[in-house]
Amino acid sequence: MTTGQPVGDGLVRVVTAVVGHHYVRRVTSLSTPLTERLGARLPIFGFTHSLDAAIAISRNGGIGIWGATRSTPEEIEAALTRMHDELGDLPYGIDLVIPPGMPDSDNRSEIEAAIPDEHRAFVDGLRERFDVPDDGEPGMRSRFVRSEESARAQVDVVMDSHLPILALGIGSPEWVIGPARERGMTLISLVGQPKHAEAALRAGADIIVAQGYDAGAHTGTVGTFSLVPRIVDLCGDTPVVAAGGVATGRHIAASLAMGAQAVWMGTAWLLCEEEHTHPAVAAKLMAAESADTVISRADSGKTLRQVRSAWSDAWAADDAPAPLKMPYQDILVGDVLGQIQRHEVEPLMHSPAGQSIAYFDELTTVADVMAGLEADTIAALERLRG
Ligand SMILES: Cc1cc2nc3c(=O)[nH]c(=O)nc-3n(C[C@H](O)[C@H](O)[C@H](O)COP(=O)(O)O)c2cc1C
Repeated sequence: MTTGQPVGDGLVRVVTAVVGHHYVRRVTSLSTPLTERLGARLPIFGFTHSLDAAIAISRNGGIGIWGATRSTPEEIEAALTRMHDELGDLPYGIDLVIPPGMPDSDNRSEIEAAIPDEHRAFVDGLRERFDVPDDGEPGMRSRFVRSEESARAQVDVVMDSHLPILALGIGSPEWVIGPARERGMTLISLVGQPKHAEAALRAGADIIVAQGYDAGAHTGTVGTFSLVPRIVDLCGDTPVVAAGGVATGRHIAASLAMGAQAVWMGTAWLLCEEEHTHPAVAAKLMAAESADTVISRADSGKTLRQVRSAWSDAWAADDAPAPLKMPYQDILVGDVLGQIQRHEVEPLMHSPAGQSIAYFDELTTVADVMAGLEADTIAALERLRG
């Protein structure tokens, strides 16, 4: 006998079977209205900056979302072509971050001129103390200035593509949402507070990701449990996806119970081989407990949860200046961050990571993580159903 049983707003299929002398209820599918709409087998969005990992997530039943915010239009175009060619009809998307209040143009010298001497001296001091070679090359955060001009160039490439899903990590500007809707793209907005969800709904988002404080990288102040049901209530018929601290099938079952129709995970992929995390960073991630992640504005100017390192410690010390705002902090530290990575200055190497990092302590693959999440979610739901 097969029955459809609602879990939150989802529809998880349950089979009642006879095993020995007992009836047991088997969960045979984790589909929800949202996964059915998008054509995914599992209610798992996987956010990653690695194209290999994003493709693997979609191939293994989820919805791979490639983080493109620090990529050039040419790189985005190449990535979109690869995803389209390799994934065909499987669901996938890209994520852009378009914060309000950025400068109009990609003018590095104007930003440089506004950086206070005290901040420059502090970064020079760090460079000297940790012996970071200056190879004259930029890093990921300083290869271009985050500006309206650079965002428009990224968006132009996206609008010329067959991209099925566009996610907006910070900011939901009308000039992006309007054209994306005209092209039939599914629009996702990440929010950390009810007022942000209201703005995203007004702007026309199709899916809201409610991202709690536990999350890796840019994060807000409200915890996932406090946030998700509030956003579900506020969103009515618009599907909500839970993010921040999701690491196991138990978290996925809890997210469905809170009314989310899927989860959105970022930290989970950092130790997958497809992510290509540097071994020194991977070692720090494997050793980290939840409390070993800290929130610092030192990387980008906005609050960014990351694995603790000599970098975050230095910026939290009494002698450190307060980090600048985005994009000034990007330009202040972007080159040195790139050089730390390229020249493997181990004490300063770090990565964004969420509190869920405590659940990940070995090198693995996307296929193994996905299979584990699926089995663990089914087990959690079956336990709940007796
Ligand atoms: C290494 C890393 C980089 C991230 N970069 C971005 C980004 O560029 N844009 C974005 O919208 N979210 C970014 N995020 C946040 C994820 O989209 C996601 O909301 C978050 O990872 C979910 O929480 P979790 O880390 O507990 O899984 C990043 C997360 C990680 C771990």
